[in-house]
Amino acid sequence: MSSPSVLVLVHAFPFGAAMWRRQAEAFPGWRVVMPALPGFDGHSRLVEPTIDAYARDLLATLDRLGIERAVFGGLSMGGYTIFGVLRQAPHRVLGLILADTRTSVDSPDRRAARERSIALARASGPSAIAGEMIPNILGRTTRESRPDVVAEVRALIEAQPAEAIVDGLRAMMTRPDSQPVLDRITVPTTIIVGDEDTVTPPSDARFMHGRVRGSTLVTIPAAGHMANLEAPEAFNGAIRAFLPRCLSDTRTT
Ligand code: MLT
Repeated sequence: MSSPSVLVLVHAFPFGAAMWRRQAEAFPGWRVVMPALPGFDGHSRLVEPTIDAYARDLLATLDRLGIERAVFGGLSMGGYTIFGVLRQAPHRVLGLILADTRTSVDSPDRRAARERSIALARASGPSAIAGEMIPNILGRTTRESRPDVVAEVRALIEAQPAEAIVDGLRAMMTRPDSQPVLDRITVPTTIIVGDEDTVTPPSDARFMHGRVRGSTLVTIPAAGHMANLEAPEAFNGAIRAFLPRCLSDTRTT
C-alpha cells in the first residue's frame, strides 16, 4: 500500500492547502499530498483540538488515501503537527522537511497573546486576524516590495473559518515540548528558514539542526516566516535537492 515517492505537506496556521500552490507541481516524480488540518478548508473540527489530535487526524487522512509511508514537510504549525506524527507513528516517516518551525512550547506571554487572538477571532473574524498576523509572518522585504504576496496571504487567511482559527490557537498554545523528539530522528532531515523570519527565527532552525544528526540547514535570503510563499524558487530548490536522499536512505526513527 505504500509509495516511497509521496510528499505530504502540512500547512501553517491559519492557512489550508492553498498555501502550497507554488509547491504542488514543483517536484517531478513525487505525488504531493496537501491535507487540511481539522477545521481548515472545510475539514471537520475536533471536539478537543490539540496538536497531537491534529497528527492523529493527519495519519487517518493518509490511511484513507492508502499512504503508509511518506516524506513529511511542515511549515510552522505544520511542523508542530509533524512532531506529533513522530511521537505517534515514526515508522511512517521516510524523511523530514522542517520549515520555519520550532520545538519549544509557548512562553506565558505568548499564551496570553493567543488568548487575545482567540477573543479577536471570535469578535472580529479572520480579516482581523490577517491584519494582526501579516506584519509578523511576512518578512520585511516582502512587506516593502511584494504587495501581491501580501494580498495573497491576506486572502488565504480570510478564506478560513473563524472557528478553525480559534481551534488552531488552542492547539498551538497547549502543544507539548517536542525537543525530545529531535534526538530520536534518524531519517534524512532538512531544516529550512527564511532569514527574516521573526516568528520562528533562524536561531530556532539552528537549534534543530544542531540536534538532528545528519540534518541540513538551508537559510533563505529575503524571506520571512512564510518562506514557501515569499521565496518559492529557493524553497522548492532546497526541497528538490533534498528529496533524493529520502529514496536512498531507508533508516527509520
Ligand atoms: C504558524 O505559522 O503556523 C503560526 O504562526 C505559528 C505560531 O504562531 O506559533
